[in-house]
Amino acid sequence: MPYRTIIEPFRIHTVEPIDFPTETERHEALERAGWNLFGLHADEVIIDLLTDSGTGAMSTEQWAGMMRGDESYAGSRSYYRFRDAVKGVTGLEHVIPTHQGRAAERILFSTAVKPGDVVPNNTHFDTTRANVEYQGAEARDLVIPEGKVPAARHPFKGNMDVEALRATIESVGRDRIPLVMVTVTNNSGGGQPVSLANLRAVREVCDEYGIPLFLDACRFAENAWFIKLREPGYADKTPREIAAEMFSLVDGCTMSAKKDGMSNIGGFLAMNDADLAHECRNLLILTEGFPTYGGLAGYDLEAVARGIEEALEEEYLRYRIRSTEYLAEKIARAGVPIVQPAGGHAVYLDAGALLPHIPASQYPAQALACALYLEGGVRGVEIGSVMFGKPQADGTEIPAPMELVRLAVPRRTYTQSHVDFVGEVMIAVAARASELKGLRMVEQAPWLRHFTARFEPLV
Ligand code: F0G
Repeated sequence: MPYRTIIEPFRIHTVEPIDFPTETERHEALERAGWNLFGLHADEVIIDLLTDSGTGAMSTEQWAGMMRGDESYAGSRSYYRFRDAVKGVTGLEHVIPTHQGRAAERILFSTAVKPGDVVPNNTHFDTTRANVEYQGAEARDLVIPEGKVPAARHPFKGNMDVEALRATIESVGRDRIPLVMVTVTNNSGGGQPVSLANLRAVREVCDEYGIPLFLDACRFAENAWFIKLREPGYADKTPREIAAEMFSLVDGCTMSAKKDGMSNIGGFLAMNDADLAHECRNLLILTEGFPTYGGLAGYDLEAVARGIEEALEEEYLRYRIRSTEYLAEKIARAGVPIVQPAGGHAVYLDAGALLPHIPASQYPAQALACALYLEGGVRGVEIGSVMFGKPQADGTEIPAPMELVRLAVPRRTYTQSHVDFVGEVMIAVAARASELKGLRMVEQAPWLRHFTARFEPLV
């Protein structure tokens, strides 16, 4: 069609009311939550951009499929539909359902990783890192240098630094690297894609040393769309064909179906190695459930089976990636520094650049996330030194490489006017950026502290 406006490729069928807490109520809520947005109640939030995980709207076909959910404990019909859909998209032989992505990670790493090992990844997501470290192994991030500079433009900023991978294998020794992972898109590095050329180069290095390669495939469909838009030779391929090529280069994957599975819960672990799959299934039975449901209801399996197909529809992906970019353009035009280019599922605000007067030890990205909430009830998430800072024995911390606030866009959930509102709130906060103050952390857990840490505002 000759029109520029890209419309939402759906109509709204069911509506969910939004609450409008007052400024005083928002202040009280944040104090109660210890200046940690994870502690807010959903009815205290106006626009919730905390995560794109499990927060999307399901389609009529998904809801219809759920009515067919077969709740048989063993051998459910829904499992076979789920397995066939996953195999159809990934081509991977053994499909093991899990309740979400981190369960797939825990099972894979408990089986394949031992203390002293090193797992390279472009950038580990927080749960992935924690699950590697929980095994006594090291999670090493090897994204290309451009991937660590928010303002640096590169079409595939999520790419792995292939020479750094080779150097890591040479220095650590092949025997201490049980597998290599590549995260598509690279969530912690700004939702940036990985090219097929890069994936192929990583594969070659893995083949040279005989190391298995796994995808953290949460946002595989968004990654496929970026390849279609940006990688020479792929403009005429369908997202499904591109996804098939991505999966053909790996030995297995972990997946959170709460992202590009378009579902509210679910995930899977898939692989070609029958022996490894056998071991993983044994552990699955111990902690998740029988291998034909893996902690999910039959109806959840149905939602994922349908969702993984819908995530690859061109009209959907065009709208999805463009609507995130639209928010990014709005914010960037107002002079707010963001990770460039826009990610697939989220816009990442560069709090380090916006708040240079707040040192990393006072958590500038956490301060910015709190300011957005107080200003307009918008909930984002800190991806900086609260999430990735490393506390040292002497009480100091090694800061995270970047201080970002992620505004993640739930799938098929908010409209353009919601996005316009978020842009206005952001611009209002940016206008008084120099007045914002940092925070002091007063309570933290030994793992994944960002979920439960408590803070006090500095005055
Ligand atoms: N890997 C990546 C790249 C992720 O983004 C996530 C979740 C996981 C693994 C774990 O999956 O939540 O189903 O257990 N990311 C969410 C987020 C939580 O907000 O980015 P899960």
